[in-house]
Amino acid sequence: MRKKLVAGNWKMHGSLAENAALLAAIKPALTGIEAAVCVPFPYLGQAQAALAGSSITWGAQNVSEQAKGAFTGEVSTSMLLDFGCKYVIVGHSERRSLYGESDALVASKYLAAQAAGLTPILCVGESLDERESGVTETVVARQLDAVIRVAGVASLAKAVVAYEPVWAIGTGKTATPEQAQAVHAYIRGKVATLDAGVAAQLIIQYGGSVKAANAAELMAQPDIDGGLIGGASLVADEFIAICRAAAK
Ligand code: PGA
Repeated sequence: MRKKLVAGNWKMHGSLAENAALLAAIKPALTGIEAAVCVPFPYLGQAQAALAGSSITWGAQNVSEQAKGAFTGEVSTSMLLDFGCKYVIVGHSERRSLYGESDALVASKYLAAQAAGLTPILCVGESLDERESGVTETVVARQLDAVIRVAGVASLAKAVVAYEPVWAIGTGKTATPEQAQAVHAYIRGKVATLDAGVAAQLIIQYGGSVKAANAAELMAQPDIDGGLIGGASLVADEFIAICRAAAK
């Protein structure tokens, strides 16, 4: 059976003091439950120190596709490894829309992350306009194909996919469990046409206004294998409850 994975995406939130309190609260509460937090770069060392030896792993929210060199402001895969990262989010819709990351750039980041031994959490998802014009599957397929083209379908055995409808991110407007399940099933089906074994094992997280109150119904869907949690991952009780709902 596939395992479930809940990952927090802290985005550009937190401070040394706030993070210390959050990490101290979630660590003992999630003993034995596999979960992850993707924190801002400056706090990777703090996450590593606080979480080493626990069942919670950590990672980053972005990475450079370049190995090293004159790339001011960028952070490489080997730097993430220096801080014990396991995961890195690539292709989050905020990076695609606010920072102009193309499908091709996202694919390069995915490739670089995997080559370094990091597990990419590849985000895909449609905007409200796209959903309303009925092209959700086309958009998600295009985003996935960009990665499969350069990295191959077998690479998905060492990746996580996060389906995050853009209209549900940070809006309080969650996809219904049925809406989410339909896209998750589409993604798994699409991968299955290329490699059924990889599809069966692929962790597909749902992201977009997941909270303690709606986590159980979402996690109960057959093709939803956990969540990528923004706002609610900053509130210890919320994050703990979501991780527990997924682990049931
Ligand atoms: P949200 O964000 O849970 O605050 O909607 C999810 C995400 O962007 O990963």
